[in-house]
Amino acid sequence: MAPAVHLGSGKVRELYALDDERLLLVATDRISTFDVVLPTEIPDKGRVLTGLSAFWFARTRSICPNHLLAVRSDGRSTECRRLEMLPIECVVRGYLTGSGWKDYVATGSTSGHALPPGLVESQELPEPIFTPATKATTGHDENIDAETAVELVGADRFREVERIALALYRFASAHAHERGIIIADTKFEFGLDPDGVLVLADEALTPDSSRFWPMDGYRPGQAQPSFDKQFVRDYCESLGWDKTDPGPELPENVVAGTRERYIEAFALLTGIDFDAYLDNPEIVLR
Ligand SMILES: Nc1ncnc2c1ncn2[C@@H]1O[C@H](COP(=O)(O)OP(=O)(O)OP(=O)(O)O)[C@@H](O)[C@H]1O
Ligand SMILES: [Mg+2]
Repeated sequence: MAPAVHLGSGKVRELYALDDERLLLVATDRISTFDVVLPTEIPDKGRVLTGLSAFWFARTRSICPNHLLAVRSDGRSTECRRLEMLPIECVVRGYLTGSGWKDYVATGSTSGHALPPGLVESQELPEPIFTPATKATTGHDENIDAETAVELVGADRFREVERIALALYRFASAHAHERGIIIADTKFEFGLDPDGVLVLADEALTPDSSRFWPMDGYRPGQAQPSFDKQFVRDYCESLGWDKTDPGPELPENVVAGTRERYIEAFALLTGIDFDAYLDNPEIVLR
């Protein structure tokens, strides 16, 4: 087998070409907060992201084909189809939080969706909404309205990704609900295969691409504690760090607490013991 060629490094993933048609995506244990990669890693975080993505890929094929070909035995490497990625991030929001909430407070709407007046922070929206964003090569992604997204991908493709992203969100959200987790919002990335067929790619429905909230403890009218990065965020805030590179080292208790929360999210959502995943990653595909 020809050696894999390193194509690049994202904040979290290393990208290799296996051949012209296939990529190897390796999810590292790097953690980013406020868009800065911290110097300290969270052991097994990359395995949690890989296992959860594979779990969802295996269950959403009837909604949309995806890029997954195989999960390797290390639990963090995914062989996948090499796609031409669409230049937008496909965000779906079921709850009003983050930049959606900020936009709503400022303008009464978010990404061109007029919303009812009087909504409070973290409130469930009447219907999930599709709020695409640009893929910023540096810095923060920016919310765009439908018109701008249509300019980037075309009207037909826009309608298709909107429909599919909403269907994926509704499916995952219902599954998570049964397991005591709210998926407040999530981001999908899609690509096109050589025939122009839309394919779900990247990671899907992980704590890094989504906001997961524990259902008990959900209190509209305030910010919700997130499932996973909350320890890290709280710690960083307590330092008065200015949120620019470089980020702070994390102490052991913050690392351990964060790792536990990632693993807890995995176990709750999949119903699979994380140790069983480590023994045999293909368990999430069944
Ligand atoms: N099937 C695929 N074909 C081609 N590119 C892909 C595929 N799946 C994912 N990618 C791309 O691989 C990269 C994954 O790396 P990673 O998530 O670490 O980087 P990032 O998205 O640039 O950073 P971040 O997610 O932290 O904003 C992304 O650029 C993503 O768009
Ligand atoms: Mg990414």
